[in-house]
Amino acid sequence: MFSKAYSGAIHGIDGLLISVEADVSDGLPIFDMVGFLSSEVKEARERVRIALKNSGYLLPAKRITVNLSPADIHKEGTAFDLSVAIAILTAFGHLPEENLKDFLIIGELSLNGNVNKVNGVLPIVYSAKQQGFTKCIVPKENAREGAVVAGILTYGVATLAEAVELLSGRSDVKPENVDITSLFCVDDDADGLDFSEVAGQLAAKRAIEIAVSGMHNILMIGPPGSGKTMIAKRISSIMPELSFEESVEISKIYSIAGLLDNQALIARRPFRSPHHTITTTALVGGGRIPKPGEISLAHHGVLFLDELPEFMKNTIEVLRQPLEDKSVTIARLNATYRYPAGFMLVAAMNPCSCGYYPDRNKCNCSINLVKRYLGRISQPLLDRFDICIEALQMNYKELQVNAKQETSKDIRARVAIARQMQLNRYQGTNIYFNCELTPRTIKKFCKLGVEEQSLLEEAFHKMNLSARAYHRILKVARTIADLDQNEKITTRHISEAICYRSMDQKYWGE
Ligand SMILES: Nc1ncnc2c1ncn2[C@@H]1O[C@H](COP(=O)(O)OP(=O)(O)O)[C@@H](O)[C@H]1O
Ligand SMILES: [Mg+2]
Ligand SMILES: [Zn+2]
Repeated sequence: MFSKAYSGAIHGIDGLLISVEADVSDGLPIFDMVGFLSSEVKEARERVRIALKNSGYLLPAKRITVNLSPADIHKEGTAFDLSVAIAILTAFGHLPEENLKDFLIIGELSLNGNVNKVNGVLPIVYSAKQQGFTKCIVPKENAREGAVVAGILTYGVATLAEAVELLSGRSDVKPENVDITSLFCVDDDADGLDFSEVAGQLAAKRAIEIAVSGMHNILMIGPPGSGKTMIAKRISSIMPELSFEESVEISKIYSIAGLLDNQALIARRPFRSPHHTITTTALVGGGRIPKPGEISLAHHGVLFLDELPEFMKNTIEVLRQPLEDKSVTIARLNATYRYPAGFMLVAAMNPCSCGYYPDRNKCNCSINLVKRYLGRISQPLLDRFDICIEALQMNYKELQVNAKQETSKDIRARVAIARQMQLNRYQGTNIYFNCELTPRTIKKFCKLGVEEQSLLEEAFHKMNLSARAYHRILKVARTIADLDQNEKITTRHISEAICYRSMDQKYWGE
């Protein structure tokens, strides 16, 4: 007898339909699995055989062949186990085959017949729905992420026997239900971090507000204790709320990385802050069973690299390409994957190894030592920061000020206005933020008057700017004008944008 069940796999961040065919025939009692399988998929044979036995299904000694297709996709992971067991039971006549045709089935089996959670349920269910499936069976622990997808019923099962009951129509298990609106009622200060706690540092706060408004990459440089880490950790508190589409896109990535836990959707903008000992693979993604790295987990949010020069040089240099492309390509033997990586890069660093350069009362580092320390950040990487600012040491009096500081909510309201200006302007294009402007689109959207033109030209020669720096100044000036609710970029906007370019001259210039 022959039967067919449907399962799913992940390809990049998308789900992919996999057919699982099972055939039983007379002959030597052998269990074979074919279809371009990785070793852990081949091992499904043992898990399925023992799980069937321990769930009480006694199968006659026959020859079993299971085929997973399409044949040209390399199949990895353990998510096919449950569908293989179901296909075999159906081929033996335990279930009517027509009951399987509406269902997509995923889950890993334990030897005792329990169904374990797997990664990537959200994207798989999402693509199953697009392919016309109306129901899916997933591990109970993954049921909430599957239930987020509208238009397909998601049933969570804890055991193989529960799945069989469900497919035979004898079960009264209800599909999982998730209230999406309530997921998006995010508490304003869930982590309790607010900009009102940061005393002074007005210039740094202003720069951060601009950076967030246009999603510009920003580098903060300054002595230890000046509040760089403190400021960075509060950035997500002023970012605009996620749209549902953005949330689903991020949640797919977390689902594949196995980090969705039971929260159904990621409803807040990611803030990822990997330690400087991180490996290149963990940062950009990859591995034997490919997983998104920190840069993809930071998609639509912030990647914060604290103590930037302490990262391994190779590791941070790899960021250059994803920073341009907003995605990362991972080439492997059997396939090439693309993961989204549209993050805002925030980095902080001390100017030298003692941390106090250029304050010669405190810093004894030789100029060569300082140069070597700063040299850990290459010019091309430095060029990727649209905004570069100094965080200055606060004195005792400044920290004592009782003046009321602006709250994150106040700042967020202004960011939202600048965001709306960009949405209106870029309607019908594939640009969302000013940081995405290219030299060609800069010409179109950052037109300058005569006065503005000559101011920029003067700076270009005086500061010996590169073409890249020139374009960055224009993009930042565009964002500053947007915060001003001004469609026209004025000299004031340009001068401020130029300031954010002068810091790298001060430290890295000749
Ligand atoms: N502007 C500030 N307002 C209030 N507290 C501050 C400020 N700057 C620094 N601090 C205090 O100093 C601590 C160390 O700051 P931190 O952000 O770690 O400095 P950095 O990262 O620049 O070395 C903070 O946890 C905070 O308690
Ligand atoms: Mg710090
Ligand atoms: Zn020093």
